[in-house]
Amino acid sequence: MKKVLTGLQPTGVITLGNYIGAIKQMIKYQNEYESYLFIADMHAITINQDKNELRKNIKSLLALYLACGIDPNKNIIYIQSDNEYHTNLSWILECNTYFGELSRMTQFKDKSSKNENFSAGLFTYPVLMAADILLYDIDYVPVGLDQKQHVELARDIAIRFNKKYGDIFKVPEPLLTKEGTKIMDLVDPTKKMSKSSINQKGVIRLLDNIDDIKKKILSATTDSDNKIYYDMENKPGISNLLNIYSVIKEIPVKELENKFKDYNYKDFKEEVADAVADLISNIQEKYYRLINSDILNEILDKGMDITRKQAKIKYEKVKEVVGLGR
Ligand code: TYM
Repeated sequence: MKKVLTGLQPTGVITLGNYIGAIKQMIKYQNEYESYLFIADMHAITINQDKNELRKNIKSLLALYLACGIDPNKNIIYIQSDNEYHTNLSWILECNTYFGELSRMTQFKDKSSKNENFSAGLFTYPVLMAADILLYDIDYVPVGLDQKQHVELARDIAIRFNKKYGDIFKVPEPLLTKEGTKIMDLVDPTKKMSKSSINQKGVIRLLDNIDDIKKKILSATTDSDNKIYYDMENKPGISNLLNIYSVIKEIPVKELENKFKDYNYKDFKEEVADAVADLISNIQEKYYRLINSDILNEILDKGMDITRKQAKIKYEKVKEVVGLGR
């Protein structure tokens, strides 16, 4: 069976963009592929984190995975830092990755330009991501557009390593859904909806108050054209709302253009707001039932055991071909 893997960082409450770019895809693929879903806490510490917040967010993210519809019987779910082979392999891969390659990563350029004192971890972050993937012979990696370049780097690293040392790693492919590749900020729809955004009005988080969520959608920036059709370049606000509705309702954008052709913006936004509010209130109801349940630890223990065993085999093989140890 083909294998699919993705991870999300436990930094703050995840957004509708994270849900659409990664989780929604995993919900679909869990029925088709062997699925791995982890909590990327090691990636989270590439920027400064409050220790208590981080720990709280790790558990919270797991409860959100389940509340969104991730089935623990169909997914191997684990915390990245519970499995030391991720960072062990990452070091060996770093020694097979060029400084120039990492310098070209768009996310690094973007994040480092905002902070003079960025960590070395922020720079090597994509290599840890390659290790996350390459440890388990993964075929597909569902991500949003912002992570595509990192998955492509993982491919390049795998191909180069295999050329040098033999057929060790499976070469993974990124998976992106057309509508969900990049959900945009509601206030500035030319910008990605991002967890770290300063203006909260542009970002929908899965634990936001439901009335606030509706308000954010109703006041989303649009244009003055008053016609509803998809044109990301000239009508980014409307196109973004069409994308969101399309993914949630699983209706192609083309069909939606037809459905909404006689709507005004206000009625259209109300329908999108109701769809998002329904989805998220459902998630929240499940989340609050799960958050203090013992089942969370059981899932993480199981995931840790399974992935450690699998990762150890791959890591020992890598050590051997590289000539490390005795
Ligand atoms: P992270 O935590 O930044 O984001 C998690 C996932 O959400 C997607 N995403 C979006 N998709 C659509 N629209 C948006 N506005 C939007 N914002 C975020 C991201 O593309 C991502 O898929 N480095 C990764 C975590 C990671 C990982 C991995 C992923 C670590 N190791 C191995 C895949 C495979 C990250 O920081 O994602």
